[in-house]
This record gives sequence, C-alpha cells and structure tokens, in this order.
Amino acid sequence: MQPTPSPIPDNNVDPAFARFSQFIARELGIKMPPEKSPLLMSRLRERIQDLKLGGLEDYQRYLFELPDSSAEWDEFIDRVTTNKTDFFREPGHFDYLSGTVLPALAAPRGPTWQLKLWCAGCSSGEETYTLAMTLSEYAQSHPGFDYSIFATDISTRVLALAQTAIYPQAKIDPVPTELRRRYLLRGEGAQRDNVRIVPELRQKTRFSRLNFMNDHFGVSELFDVIFFRNVMIYFERETQQAVLTKMCRQLKPGGYLFVGHAESLMGLKLPLQPMARAVFRRTCTRFSGF
Ligand SMILES: C[S@@+](CC[C@H](N)C(=O)[O-])C[C@H]1O[C@@H](n2cnc3c(N)ncnc32)[C@H](O)[C@@H]1O
Repeated sequence: MQPTPSPIPDNNVDPAFARFSQFIARELGIKMPPEKSPLLMSRLRERIQDLKLGGLEDYQRYLFELPDSSAEWDEFIDRVTTNKTDFFREPGHFDYLSGTVLPALAAPRGPTWQLKLWCAGCSSGEETYTLAMTLSEYAQSHPGFDYSIFATDISTRVLALAQTAIYPQAKIDPVPTELRRRYLLRGEGAQRDNVRIVPELRQKTRFSRLNFMNDHFGVSELFDVIFFRNVMIYFERETQQAVLTKMCRQLKPGGYLFVGHAESLMGLKLPLQPMARAVFRRTCTRFSGF
C-alpha cells in the first residue's frame, strides 16, 4: 500500500493529514475531509506515543516505508475504521428477513433448501450472530431449511473479536430473553461478566478479511441475501457506486440487499428495486453495463 505523491488541495490543511486523507479514501474507501482531522489525530495519538514518534508526519514516514505485510498496517486500519455495532441494530430488518424475505425465497425452492447470506462489514460480529439467531429461529419452524453466513471486514481486530464470539453482558440488552436462553452461554469465573454464542450458531458462520476497495472480492459464491449496513455511509458517492456494483454481482437475481437506515441508493445506477426501508431486491433482467 505505497502512497503515490499527489498535490495537496488546501493550503490550510496539515500536509500529513491531507496525504493520509487521500490515502485512506483511495485504499479503504473511507472519506476523511479536513473536519475529520481531530478525529484521525485522536485515533492515532496513542500509537504515535507508543512508537515514541514526534507526530503525524513522523508516523506517516514510518508507516509508508513499511512493507504491505507489516502488522503496523493492520494496526493503522484498526484505528482508522469505525466499528460501532450492536445486536439487533435496526431491528425491523430482522423481522423483514424472517417474515417476508425467507418465505419469498423459499417459495420456488421446494422443501429442502439452504440460504447463503453475506454479512459485509460485520465488525465484531454482533450483526452476524443476530442474523444467525434469526435464521435459526426460522429453521426451528421450517424443517428442511438450512443456512450459512459468510462474514467479512477489513479490520483484523474486530474479526478476531467476532471469531471468539464472546461479548460483555452489557452488550446483550437488545437480545430478547427467549433468544438469550437459547443462543447465549453464561461465562463462569474470570468470564462471569461475559456471554458466548453457542457452538451451533458459531458453526454456521465463517469470518474472513475482505477490502471492498479490491478490484475483485475473490469470492466465488453468489448470495441470496447480503447485509451491507452502515459501511458505505463512510464512503464517497463514486466509491459507493463502484462497491455496490461489485456487490450486486455477488447477489443472485431475485436476492436481497439490506443497507443501513441512514444510507441512500438514490441516484446510483444499480440492478436493484426498492422493497422496504433500506431493503432492495436484485432485478432478474440483465443490467446494461453490468
Ligand atoms: C460501523 S461498522 C458497521 C457494522 C455492522 N454492519 C452494523 O451495521 O452494525 C462498519 C464496518 O465496516 C468496515 N469497513 C470499513 N471500510 C471497509 C472496507 N474498505 N472494506 C471492508 N470493510 C470495511 C469497518 O472496519 C467496520 O467494522
């Protein structure tokens, strides 16, 4: 991830910040306008101090000389990304999934079928395991139904958390009592303030690192449903168009895409039709230029 020197557009902006801003937008898709300068600084300050470097410029020089494979790049990405998430965030989507999407997808499939879902930008896994709970509940009343969840993020720190599937008790407030009883294990001893997702759900999930800015996602599967929520809100419009175009290629015709409630697809050219709030369905016709 070596930087290419580029002109600094605004003379009032710290050149080191401007270079980081361009680099982050190009490599991670995340927009970093000048007003985000204090935010970036606050996220990197501790690291700069730990490395006993003088400031942002020194850190930049240090980082850009390292090979792509250096663990410092992972550290940097962990700090630059915003990983806020929750169990049952924007809960209407999970009701819509089990009440409308699954019956619609099930109708032409016959009694035995498997749903393939991609949780794209999964952060520390709360959304992924909410989906696993929702799908397992549906499976209870629909024998013959099975599912698998592919979950990805660019941050290795949150992926590691997701894979442990251990969460503080304080995070599980949004999980309905009945689902806690079925799908969460209470910790003991040193883990007494934590819960862990049951193995039956963990076995249904596969976590992997993926950068949406890659030309190709390197994913051979097509999905029935993609959850891509609260990620592209951090991207510029052209980046949103490019990433969503690639994402639609991973969606089966007739498959569903869920985005965050605050995210809009208005004005983007995509083979999708709106179905419900922040829910879209891949059209079955061929999409010109797609
Ligand atoms: C705010 S979290 C959203 C988590 C979850 N989808 C939700 O709605 O609760 C956004 C996630 O997108 C990931 N992300 C940001 N840029 C990315 C990129 N270029 N490729 C892959 N993941 C990215 C971040 O690491 C972060 O974990």
